Amino acid sequence: MKVSKAVIVAAGWGIRFLPVTKAVPKEMLPLIDKPLIHYAVEEAVASGLTDIIIVTATGKEAIGDYFGHNSGLEAFLKRKGETGLWQRVHHLSQMADISYVRQEERLGLGHAVLTAGEAVGNEPFAVILPDDIIDSRVPALKQLLVVYEQFQASVLAVEAVSPRESRKYGIINPTEVVGDTCRVSGLVEKPAPAEAPSNLGIVGRYILTPQVFAAIQATKPGKGGEIQLTDALALLLKKQPVYALRFEGTRHDTGTPLGWLAAQVAFTLKDPGLGPEMKERLRRLL
Ligand code: G1P
Repeated sequence: MKVSKAVIVAAGWGIRFLPVTKAVPKEMLPLIDKPLIHYAVEEAVASGLTDIIIVTATGKEAIGDYFGHNSGLEAFLKRKGETGLWQRVHHLSQMADISYVRQEERLGLGHAVLTAGEAVGNEPFAVILPDDIIDSRVPALKQLLVVYEQFQASVLAVEAVSPRESRKYGIINPTEVVGDTCRVSGLVEKPAPAEAPSNLGIVGRYILTPQVFAAIQATKPGKGGEIQLTDALALLLKKQPVYALRFEGTRHDTGTPLGWLAAQVAFTLKDPGLGPEMKERLRRLL
């Protein structure tokens, strides 16, 4: 079945970014001049998915404002002859068909995905965690969709992580490795290094079959007392195969201040307009 929907999870507290996230959703922090969640929508659209469901929570109203139509601002920009800016602002409400579901209680990533269950229905769908920004030639979701087409089964994005960092990720146990693809025979959410089944950590991109919803419903609270998507996937793979792909591209973890700052530098250096001046300023600073 063709995948047409993407669920973007934007319901977390943004604890690692307090105090700014007390008033600004972490998904609205900028990377150069666009918020992080803009890159998630762009990646979904570039991967052929135009039906976007954003899981929000209280305090996340700015996300709806950002992708909504603002006739006052658009009229103002037109009056001022700011055609370029008008186009950029107008484009935001035209990028995709975006709908919102609200996670009333923040019970974990698995629970947030389950909140989108009704909007997704009985079809395969993509999940994007917008604080993982992936810079790649082919959009990361599109790479996962190729594997999904081949196996018609759930596919997770993974990358090699340092053993010291296993506590930050869901870690998979890979089998039947063929090139960059493997079958998943087990998963553990944020294990201690000694308990990690491999060095392959899950990155925030998934293609999931709708059977994951029943698996989430059957999942008990796990790490941190939350309903974890990783635990639900461990249940799902008892019923149907799950695959993983070591995607091509560079991932930036913008969910922490240092990762976010490093992503700013990397993206600015790549920008043809800002890169040369940024390089010069960095050289002076160092
Ligand atoms: C979540 C998932 C984890 C995954 C990670 C990727 O954790 O629970 O399995 O490896 O995203 O970014 P979080 O970073 O939200 O704590």
